[in-house]
Amino acid sequence: MCGIVGYNGKKKAVDILLDSLSKLEYRGYDSAGIAIRDKEIEVYKAKGKLANLKEKLEKKDLKGTIGIGHTRWATHGEPSENNAHPHTSNDGSITLVHNGIIENYQELIQKLEKHDYKFYSETDTEVLANIIDYYYKKYKMGPIDAINRTMVRVRGSYAIAVMFEEHPDEIWVARKDSPMIIGQNEDGTYLASDVPAILKYTNQVYYIDNLEAACLKKDQVTFYDLNGDTIEKELTTIKWNAEAAEKEGYEHFMLKEIFEQPDVIKKTINYYIQNNKIDLSKSGITKDVLKSFKEIYIIACGSAYHVGINAQYIFEELARIPVRVEIASEFRYRHPILDKKGLAIIISQSGETADSLAALREAKKQGVKTLAIINVVGSSIAREADYVLYTIAGPEIAVATTKAFSAQLIVSYILAIEMAHIRRKINAKLNLELIKEIQTLPDKVQYILDNLTHSIQKISSEFSYVHDAFYIGRNLDYAISLEGSLKLKEVSYIHSEAYAAGELKHGTISLIEDKTLVIGVITQEEVYEKTISNLVEVKSRGAFIITVSSDNLDVDKVSDYSIKIPETNKYFYPSLTVIPLQLLGYYITIARGLDVDKPRNLAKSVTVE
Ligand code: AGP
Repeated sequence: MCGIVGYNGKKKAVDILLDSLSKLEYRGYDSAGIAIRDKEIEVYKAKGKLANLKEKLEKKDLKGTIGIGHTRWATHGEPSENNAHPHTSNDGSITLVHNGIIENYQELIQKLEKHDYKFYSETDTEVLANIIDYYYKKYKMGPIDAINRTMVRVRGSYAIAVMFEEHPDEIWVARKDSPMIIGQNEDGTYLASDVPAILKYTNQVYYIDNLEAACLKKDQVTFYDLNGDTIEKELTTIKWNAEAAEKEGYEHFMLKEIFEQPDVIKKTINYYIQNNKIDLSKSGITKDVLKSFKEIYIIACGSAYHVGINAQYIFEELARIPVRVEIASEFRYRHPILDKKGLAIIISQSGETADSLAALREAKKQGVKTLAIINVVGSSIAREADYVLYTIAGPEIAVATTKAFSAQLIVSYILAIEMAHIRRKINAKLNLELIKEIQTLPDKVQYILDNLTHSIQKISSEFSYVHDAFYIGRNLDYAISLEGSLKLKEVSYIHSEAYAAGELKHGTISLIEDKTLVIGVITQEEVYEKTISNLVEVKSRGAFIITVSSDNLDVDKVSDYSIKIPETNKYFYPSLTVIPLQLLGYYITIARGLDVDKPRNLAKSVTVE
């Protein structure tokens, strides 16, 4: 939930650190700070967004070519300059930035206070700086020993960058469960919480695994295991380019990423379908293994969880396999009963969501095979799952996911079709029909973006004042309503709820009054009449109804405003209905004058519980 960066090389560190931090603000932005070393280590911090720190540094001439930086999303200690990172040990000999949570920090404070350590902040990170200092001074074995002892002693998640006063030419890093990427080029070495922060400087990166440490010098990176032995690692080339992580002329990342969806869907389809044949071998999974599963558990958070709800309908109907969809934060603590012949599918854009990572580990602990549907290559969940199906969405910067969500839907369709075909639940004809239809989705999404965006922008300005909104549908239309509702509330701060249309009568309909905004999603023909009658029920109570429906269904009698989308196979409608719902969320937020890319209280990747 925070962003950490570091640089050690020939160039002025301050410019690189601030630029890298600006690419990570989506991970947290309630305070920021940097530490730069010329002769001495100098620490500068500011509350609020990165711009406040930049202002503070404007008049400084910081010549140092080595430094670390941090942008914060508060977990321990309220947002303040005092709690902002970098944090230093008592005598200032150790300076550190940290992303994650130290769960046993209270216990460590008591231990350190017995050795006369004092604390100036409310953060768990300051404890880390002092525990490393404690081991460094006690055992006198140098940085790697002090860091390894710390990793053995602390519980929790961390990605840390550390500067030791006695090692002026080195930055030391270590991680457990929090993300970190390490880069290198002719100008030096780099570290960051996420790829976009260093992509402008290099696409040559190392992946550091859990409980590993590394020493970044100006021209080399040395990796160590928990025993202090060195580990050889290969440089990997990141395929993304720096522009892809920029806005490319769009006003906001969210709008850019909404408009990237036709291309992202096409790339994801083409990654798994060639010559009208599905090939999942890149995931490492074989047809025999896929065929062996008796049931599926889909576990995720937020929008990724909504992909799971959509996928459940499709897997059960097409592949005739039982599917359970679970919220990861519930799954990990409810002692779930899992069948070893089951398959746990973890869906995650970042691959770093703490609850989803923990759910993966719970499934593995119970001997269940795990498959991850992930966007960030080399992320923690990707590295720990038995099989990985990557979404080819590129870097997603906006806090509200759009293109990664759509890519996850595509992967779930393809997996469901393949499982259905392997389990002989669909014949070759239907298999081919579905494979061909899925390949028409990019153009259909493009059609929606080209022809409906302007009218949706217009209608959105009429609803920027609403306090409540209800999204209703049945079957897959209900499943995608969950995502439509989240897209609105998380960026516009308007309270919204998604309801199975048939469920409204059981209480919630009491909330419907004159001019209440209801968005009805209607594409599933077999429940069309039922949904229409549910919309008539709310209309008769004064609701204003926007419908998102397929061309073939007549909704005029209930629609105060109708958004028509192209037809497709019933299983694939979520990929089309979600586009107007994303645009509604975006434009209503813009009409309310809010920062759509950095909604309050949220972070792009929830890497702590
Ligand atoms: C989606 O718009 C939200 N930002 C959030 O619900 C997100 O989907 C959720 O936190 C899961 O993130 P992940 O896909 O990176 O695991």
